[in-house]
Formats: sequence, structure tokens, C-alpha cells
Amino acid sequence: MAGRLAGRTAVVTGGSAGIGQEIARRLASEGADIAVADVNPADETRELVAETGRRFLGDKVDITDEDAIHEFAARVRRDLGAADILVNNAAVVLLADFEHVTLDEWRRTFAVNVDGAFLATKAFLPDLKESGAGRIINITSSSYWTPPPPFVSYVSAKGALNGFTSVLAANLAAHDITVNGVAASLVRTATAAATTSEAFFEQTVRIQNIKRVQMPADVSGVVTFLASDDAAFITGQIIVADGGSTRR
Ligand SMILES: NC(=O)c1ccc[n+]([C@@H]2O[C@H](COP(=O)([O-])OP(=O)(O)OC[C@H]3O[C@@H](n4cnc5c(N)ncnc54)[C@H](O)[C@@H]3O)[C@@H](O)[C@H]2O)c1
Repeated sequence: MAGRLAGRTAVVTGGSAGIGQEIARRLASEGADIAVADVNPADETRELVAETGRRFLGDKVDITDEDAIHEFAARVRRDLGAADILVNNAAVVLLADFEHVTLDEWRRTFAVNVDGAFLATKAFLPDLKESGAGRIINITSSSYWTPPPPFVSYVSAKGALNGFTSVLAANLAAHDITVNGVAASLVRTATAAATTSEAFFEQTVRIQNIKRVQMPADVSGVVTFLASDDAAFITGQIIVADGGSTRR
């Protein structure tokens, strides 16, 4: 079966693990070839994409390194063709409340979560313009509206990413590129488990309408929809896929 994304090339930053890995697998299952930029090896993702029969390129790239991300964009173009879909997913979570957070932690969080999305978007913009159906999807967080105190730099960075999504949509509409965000609740990934606690998972489920822990597939389905032709008239939106923990 051809799939909704047949013939497209999708780039997923931070696609070696967690939500990014599931997004890569799901986009491939809908027919897209996949490129992953991650500081960690993408071997597992490579295997998952191979099972779908799609092509895969996984490179060790630090998305805060401007030269590295531009070189990666050139390799993607050479090996898979021009990118149609960019998922800005890579992130770090450094937990500290305002009184304890250091300037280095604040800057590191913004460097990966915000500058990384900015640099990846700059690097892939020529490809996305060429696509005719370009898609930029930023992975953000519903914690922006339900901020736990120790997430001061993370929530602030996700707020910046929400703003970037909004203004980028206005900038790029003339090039037939849509720009949207997906805001997840607390998702069961190795990083979330390592940086929080089971009690925090339970507390989060309590504030959701849907009384179960969110899984990566709850995010990847929304990303796939936004990447598809069905979402051609949606832009500048943050789709809050959080089981109803925020009621804006
Ligand atoms: N897990 C959650 O509870 C949750 C909730 C809401 C939103 N999110 C968002 O979803 C996305 C994925 O989260 P996750 O839990 O899967 O995290 P994760 O840590 O499992 O995955 C993040 C990936 O980004 C990579 N990465 C980190 N710094 C990088 C850099 N400088 N350059 C390239 N790659 C880099 C990591 O190696 C990792 O593979 C993030 O944007 C996160 O903020 C997560």
C-alpha cells in the first residue's frame, strides 16, 4: 500500500529514541523516507524504518551546530532527495526551579529546544520551499499551560517554540509550507521516566480527562496527520494532544 506520505522525505531531529523514534517509524509506515539527526546513534530507528521498507539516513548531528546541520541537510538531499517534512523534536530537559536554575542550564535548554529548531528550519528551508507541500512540525509541551515549578527553563523554551511556530507560519505560508506544533502531556519515554518519578506520572494522569499515561504513539499519529495532505489548510496551530490536562 502506498500510504499517505508516499514519495515524501521526512527529517526528524532527535529521532534516535522516545517520541522522535516513534514519529520516524510512523511516518515511514505511511510511506515517507526518513532522515534522523541525533547526537546519539540511530541504529534502533534504522531497524524500525527498515521493517517498513522505506529508505533511512541516520547521522550523528548536534542540532546546535550550524555547520553540522547544514552538512546534514546536504547529505539528506543527496541520499534521499529534498526534504518535504521537518519535525523539530530534539530536546533536553534540565530540571530546576527559578531559584536554582543556572544560566548555563537555561542557555543549554534554549540552545537545543529553540536554537536547534531555528537552525534546522534554516538548513532545510530551501528543500521545504521546493516541496510545494512543505511541513514543519514542532514538538512542544502542554506543560506550557500547566507549568510544574522545576521545569522553568524547559517551559520557557517551549513557550518560545510556540511563538516561533506562530510567526513562522505567517512567514512561510507564501511558500506553501505549513507550520504547526504538537503539545504533549507527560509521555512514557526513557527520558521522562529518568527525569521525573512514578508519582509525577500518577499526578499528571489525575489532571488529564483521559485516565492513562500518554504514549509516543499518541503523538506520532497527530504528527502524521499534520504532515499529510489532509492538514493542508492547518497552519500556525498548536495541537494540544494531552488527554485533556489543559482546558484553554
Ligand atoms: N516525554 C515527555 O513527557 C514529553 C512531553 C511533552 C513534550 N515532549 C517533547 O517531545 C520531544 C521528545 O521527547 P522524548 O521524551 O522522546 O525525549 P528523548 O530524550 O527520549 O529524545 C530526545 C532526543 O533528542 C536527542 N537530542 C538531544 N540533544 C540533541 C542535540 N543537541 N542534537 C541532536 N539531537 C539531540 C537525544 O539524543 C534524544 O534521542 C521533546 O521535544 C520533548 O520536549 C516530551
